Amino acid sequence: MRCCHYDHVGEGCDSAFTVDTSRITFGRGCLAEVGDRARALGMKRVALFSDERLARLPYFEKVRQSLSAAGLDVVVYTDVHVEPTDQSFLDAARFASEARPDGYVSLGGGSVIDTCKGANLYATYPADFLTYVNAPVGAGRPVPGPLKPHIACPTTSGTGSEVTGITIFDLLSIQAKTGIASLALRPTEALIDPDCTESLPSEVVAASGLDVLSHALESYTARPYVRRPAPARPSLRPMSQGANPWSDLGCREALRLMGEYLVRGVTDAQDHEAREQLMWAATLAGIAFGNAGVHAPHGMAYAVAGLVRDFRPSGYPQHEPLVPHGMAVILNAPAVFRYTAESSPDRHLEAAEWLGADVRGATPGDAGEVLAGKLIHLMRAVSIPNGLTGVGYSESDLAPLTEGAFPQQRLLQNAPREMTRPVLTQLFRQALSYW
Ligand SMILES: [Fe+2]
Repeated sequence: MRCCHYDHVGEGCDSAFTVDTSRITFGRGCLAEVGDRARALGMKRVALFSDERLARLPYFEKVRQSLSAAGLDVVVYTDVHVEPTDQSFLDAARFASEARPDGYVSLGGGSVIDTCKGANLYATYPADFLTYVNAPVGAGRPVPGPLKPHIACPTTSGTGSEVTGITIFDLLSIQAKTGIASLALRPTEALIDPDCTESLPSEVVAASGLDVLSHALESYTARPYVRRPAPARPSLRPMSQGANPWSDLGCREALRLMGEYLVRGVTDAQDHEAREQLMWAATLAGIAFGNAGVHAPHGMAYAVAGLVRDFRPSGYPQHEPLVPHGMAVILNAPAVFRYTAESSPDRHLEAAEWLGADVRGATPGDAGEVLAGKLIHLMRAVSIPNGLTGVGYSESDLAPLTEGAFPQQRLLQNAPREMTRPVLTQLFRQALSYW
């Protein structure tokens, strides 16, 4: 922890930070614990959320059997949409309202866990869809109370959704991703079993791994909590409270693990050590960004994913165009960190070094270029497309991309430098191609 980063509290700014996370169980085979844990939380009738691909894999059956063996009644929902939408959330909520579970288990990547959060919310506190959606897109109203218990079991080493109170979806009417952020949405428990990652296609490990990497980088470089306005009441302190000494710990270790294991885990599905360490890095970065918040690469990614026209990446379902979340994030990252480096050159250089860059002789003025160079090197090593042109965008898309990103103020205000419309346009332009 670099204490000097937090030494001076800005006028009217916060002087404390809060640490929250789900209860976490991590280890090979721990999915078998789900039945006992669900029963201990008082569940009797469980809604098990997954998707059609996962439902054919052995660990889905392992979870279902564990729940049944614990004497629980199980209803299954596998119609989760990869990269969910407001419509797919409502479909899932309708299922939950009719099935009347007293608890939820989600088994899958971020799409499954996020859909389960949404279904739990709208089945428990029915409302017009935009009621709880982040302002200014939605009304940003607080969730009225606690939700039903939810055990999240991630199967990708990526989103961190199992430990955060955030759910993300495509709002079809504006063709952009947005979300709902509330402590009430955070899963009660996370069961993180690295065995789940062994069947993942390398493209999924690459995109989700780079999402993790960006969670850690964005949280570490976010506007520090002592430079953010103090909340009107302590209980209103946001989850995205900015960089803080607690989240720094997880970011540092997650970045070190990414530097050591990302390429290994992508290129060799049999490298169990690497895939397990990527899962641990995802957990650490998830806890970190759940308490600090991400910023511009994610805010821009919601436009990149939402405006997709015809890009269909291998390793993912082919029936509709898609820019995977982690890919949409990392494509913006080199451009953003070149721009943000002057806010805290030491932090940008530290991050580059943890990722494996040689920073000997680098000056503060080199920080952005050193970090961007390391990110580009990693992107190429795991076969990420060359910038936004690689997923189908061109100069003529800069205006709609900017308009799609600008409403993501919850994220953009967490950036360490101002993110105006002209700045966003310039960053998207620089992100068009990198090599
Ligand atoms: Fe992410």
